[in-house]
Amino acid sequence: MTTDTSYYWMPFTANRQFKARPRMMKSALGMHYFAEDGRPVLDGTAGLWCVNAGHGHPMITEAVAQQARVMDFAPPFQMGHEGAFEAARSLALMAPEGLNRVFFCNSGSEAVDTALKMALAYHRMRGDSLRTRLIGRERGYHGVGFGGIAVGGIAGNRKHFGPALPGVDHLRHPLDIARNAFSRGLPEQGAEIADEFEQRLLALHDPATVAALIVEPVQGSTGVIIPPKGYLQKLRAICDKYGILLIFDEVITGFGRLGTAFAADYFGVVPDMICCAKGLTNAMVPMGAVIAKQAIHDTFMEAAPENAIEFYHGYTYSGHPLACAAAIATLEVYHSERMFARAAEKAPAFEEAAHALRKAPYVKDVRNLGLVCGIELEPIPGRPTARAYEVFERCFWEQNVLIRTTGDIIALSPPLIIDDTQIERLFDAITRVLRSMAD
Ligand SMILES: Cc1ncc(COP(=O)(O)O)c(C=O)c1O
Repeated sequence: MTTDTSYYWMPFTANRQFKARPRMMKSALGMHYFAEDGRPVLDGTAGLWCVNAGHGHPMITEAVAQQARVMDFAPPFQMGHEGAFEAARSLALMAPEGLNRVFFCNSGSEAVDTALKMALAYHRMRGDSLRTRLIGRERGYHGVGFGGIAVGGIAGNRKHFGPALPGVDHLRHPLDIARNAFSRGLPEQGAEIADEFEQRLLALHDPATVAALIVEPVQGSTGVIIPPKGYLQKLRAICDKYGILLIFDEVITGFGRLGTAFAADYFGVVPDMICCAKGLTNAMVPMGAVIAKQAIHDTFMEAAPENAIEFYHGYTYSGHPLACAAAIATLEVYHSERMFARAAEKAPAFEEAAHALRKAPYVKDVRNLGLVCGIELEPIPGRPTARAYEVFERCFWEQNVLIRTTGDIIALSPPLIIDDTQIERLFDAITRVLRSMAD
């Protein structure tokens, strides 16, 4: 094995800092990684919000190995294979009612760009070509494609790359620590911020020019921002009033994170499209998807001549046989092992343990929903991000626990199979580290 770390340019990583003391994983099973030195490391992040069924699930592993032996690849343009149709069917059956047409891609970023293009093309095919604007949200993360960074609201992901897409605007995000600190579940205050969509943005741009609004039901990557009660319902109502498509980016919230198949189910708000990825294959093979309402799909079918391609979009690896095998097996595992219900059953213990951190040093907010929580720390004056990064490093090296941080926020999203003892261990590790930092 090479120990030369110089060739690999790592994504979203402080490369020089990492390479000075590499944090290397060697294998993974169930709730644990095993580091290069053999230490088991409790996975508090489901890899990167994606290994929802736990690592190395034998049914998924076997399905992928079996598919690799039978057929490695089939061209997805003008050709098909059974697995793609089966995977689409399984996903459609799991999705909220009415969302039943599935377009495959390879990642969350691609799912987002696919959904945005689908929204623009849908309006055009209906003869409404005025609708070209896209609305996202501050602190939204929608991957790293040009569409995704345009509707996304993270300055660091945008500032080096020019204007991305024209005609994009952003809602304010609903995080309001002053009013909602230490909320358990959905915050009480702040649904009215959704009204700004109508009163400010649509008033400014003319609702007739807006194609779609894209939001993460729970904003994950920028530190777990949980929508206040009634907020998503308001966004849905405004979209309905003005004929604007509502896209839920469920790349993180999909597949049981909130104790339901999708956040749409949890909130009882049905969008027009869902972007998903990550947990779709339990991350064993990369895959993303857009699940669209049938009416959107049918508009494409009806607008194009019989023998014409209806949507000029797709990827070489759309519906890749290995990804489809992984998806079919993963969705079956979620179902047969009741994993979403299990996550819902574990959520109260997770919430209790998370909020016990309130007493730990530097903690200025704890917010949680289902099996996700954010712990916001007081930054070290003049050194933003340094406090949380130190917790992350020390959890890994000293406590054998993997957490994730963004800014000065710790985000936890363990595999859905976490048990009570592991929940305790996870939060205990963070408490110990924070206490020792205050000593
Ligand atoms: C909400 C959301 N959308 C899109 C993405 C991008 O997914 P990917 O990294 O697979 O492109 C992510 C990744 O974390 C995400 O959280």
